[in-house]
Amino acid sequence: MQVIQSIDEIKAFVRSVRGQNKTIGFVPTMGYLHEGHQTLMRKAKKQTDFVVVSIFVNPLQFGVGEDYQEYPRDLRRDSSLAEAAGADVIFAPQVREMYPQGYSTFVDVEKLTDKLCGRSRPGHFKGVTTVVTKLFNIVQPDIAFFGQKDAQQAAVLQKMAIDLNMNLTIQIRPTVREKDGLAMSSRNSYLNPEERAAALCLYRSLEAAKNLVDAGERNTGALKQKIEGLIGQEPLARIDYVEVLSFPELAETEYLKGSSLAAAAVFIGRTRLIDNIIVEV
Ligand code: PAJ
Repeated sequence: MQVIQSIDEIKAFVRSVRGQNKTIGFVPTMGYLHEGHQTLMRKAKKQTDFVVVSIFVNPLQFGVGEDYQEYPRDLRRDSSLAEAAGADVIFAPQVREMYPQGYSTFVDVEKLTDKLCGRSRPGHFKGVTTVVTKLFNIVQPDIAFFGQKDAQQAAVLQKMAIDLNMNLTIQIRPTVREKDGLAMSSRNSYLNPEERAAALCLYRSLEAAKNLVDAGERNTGALKQKIEGLIGQEPLARIDYVEVLSFPELAETEYLKGSSLAAAAVFIGRTRLIDNIIVEV
């Protein structure tokens, strides 16, 4: 598997692929790949001729005191997992290549980023939209693939692509889970065995909310209460937020209508995990 670090080199590589009239699929990641990332790559391979995977732990999207330094990194392992999932090339730039000294341009999507993770992690989405814009400009994909696991991120990026008339399609794919329901995440590697067991409260509480919806509940407050109540029973869990909002607009509503996102962010020990489900009524 070829790993390219230089922006000029990946641009030339992509140009030559495009010269062969091939379509380009793109899966941006921060690495430490798992089945969630690999599923995105397999989907990309099915729908496009050539799949670029980026691996870049983007310092701009981490706040002070967050886990930028500790974030797991293993390029060797990642390149074999990416190859197994059908990726054609990995773009893994250095920080100084992406943000050389004097770097001063940022992309900011307003409103959608005020809530949920945007409220808890100020500046996070500005870092995401900036790096993803740069990556889109470098790779120039036809289709870029993102996971519903980060539903707000997907909604924000979709809005950015529309607002800035970007020449690509953004595809959002369902969350890939462990057998017991825990959403796969590179950050799950931080959990010790007790925390790993406690982390299940996220998925279980969202499932319980979904069961309430299936039984006819439409009040968003009641759903929030159910989720908060169940997570509250887990001694190792501390709620950052629980929200039920319209999707992809992320607007508050008293009753469910159309597509809605039930989302939670929870600290399990020192590890912050997020999960969500989308319900349709
Ligand atoms: P990262 O957390 O590595 O995730 C890369 C992509 O994989 C994102 O689109 C994310 O939603 C998706 N993903 C992660 N876990 C998943 C799961 N369990 N099921 C399905 N998809 C999953 O998200 C980022 O990196 C960064 O913010 C990035 C977009 C690369 C910008 O730096």
